[in-house]
Amino acid sequence: MQAAFIETIHTPAVVKEIETPQAGAGEVVVQLHAAALNHRDVWIQKGLYPGMKLPTLIGSDGAGVVTSIGAGVSSDWVGQAVVINPSLGWGDDPRFYGKSFRVLGMPDAGTLAEYIKIEARYLCPKPAHLSFEEAAALPLAGLTGWRALVSRASVRAGERVLVTGAGGGVALFVVQFAVALGAEVWVTSGSDDKIEKAVALGAKGGVNYKNADWAKNLITATGGDRSGYFDVVIDSAGGPNFAKLIDVAAPGGRICFYGGTTGNITDIVPGKVFFKQLNIMGSTMGTEGEFADMVQFVNTHQLRPVVDSSFALSDIEAALRYMDEGTQFGKIVLKIL
Ligand SMILES: NC(=O)c1ccc[n+]([C@@H]2O[C@H](COP(=O)([O-])OP(=O)(O)OC[C@H]3O[C@@H](n4cnc5c(N)ncnc54)[C@H](OP(=O)(O)O)[C@@H]3O)[C@@H](O)[C@H]2O)c1
Repeated sequence: MQAAFIETIHTPAVVKEIETPQAGAGEVVVQLHAAALNHRDVWIQKGLYPGMKLPTLIGSDGAGVVTSIGAGVSSDWVGQAVVINPSLGWGDDPRFYGKSFRVLGMPDAGTLAEYIKIEARYLCPKPAHLSFEEAAALPLAGLTGWRALVSRASVRAGERVLVTGAGGGVALFVVQFAVALGAEVWVTSGSDDKIEKAVALGAKGGVNYKNADWAKNLITATGGDRSGYFDVVIDSAGGPNFAKLIDVAAPGGRICFYGGTTGNITDIVPGKVFFKQLNIMGSTMGTEGEFADMVQFVNTHQLRPVVDSSFALSDIEAALRYMDEGTQFGKIVLKIL
């Protein structure tokens, strides 16, 4: 079968022919129809992801059809269209993953291939209203966004939520989930065009974080006084702008972050956090139960992941460079079948 590899850091991804996997006990083989990129794949290529192990068959997101099963797996799965949970080996404690936790796509062989073998417990039936490309866009970003917004930040209907960098794969799911849950959603982005697109998805408005006064502009846009502050902030940028998230958070607010795209968090004034009684929390991926809940929510609300563009598997390097540029709005998908 054809599969996409990163062989060494700072070199282009390559597609090569390898043996098709066979299902072992408790496993299935899925013929992938589509896969999707995450920023993780770019970090791996740059050697910037924890636990580097190359060469690696990359890819955490995939959707396809089960073609064969190993011992102990229900035959009901054969022929079933599925999405794959990439959060492997979480363990029993929903608060934090255990020692065997890993993300699909390094060290385990990932989804940028014609077939994958995976334990059956990581499968969910594909939501029927989604194409394979839309379904492939869902797993890692949807799960991360769900845990951050729902399990960790405990968003409630009617609350005001800020989502930073709304053009990102995870961030857009946070926008869609928060809107569907009845929150009032605002965004930041480095592109006015992306802010408009987020508004079309149900956000109330947004500001461009490239403007030095973005935090003041945001407060003005939302009402200009304490009523303009945010109950929940979901961030993946970190970096110097994080301190301003503390300024725009409401007293008693929750700030949850799951990434550090712009580097280390600097210049936090402790008093602003403790006088405001803020809760600042980190979040990563999610449990098997959270994955199932997220897919169910997408089904119930008939949500459609935003797919920015679709590449052939043979164009994997172009897709990675496109993600690295950061001009996309939503997920970058690889069409495999
Ligand atoms: N902990 C976890 O489980 C987990 C899971 C998934 C992702 N992550 C991390 O989360 C981050 C986003 O991942 P992704 O896959 O969603 O990436 P992505 O689709 O490539 O999106 C990255 C987004 O970052 C935003 N951004 C860039 N500079 C920014 C700034 N100065 N302020 C605010 N936002 C900024 C951009 O938003 P605009 O385009 O709107 O400007 C861009 O769309 C990455 O660092 C990734 O490693 C962590």
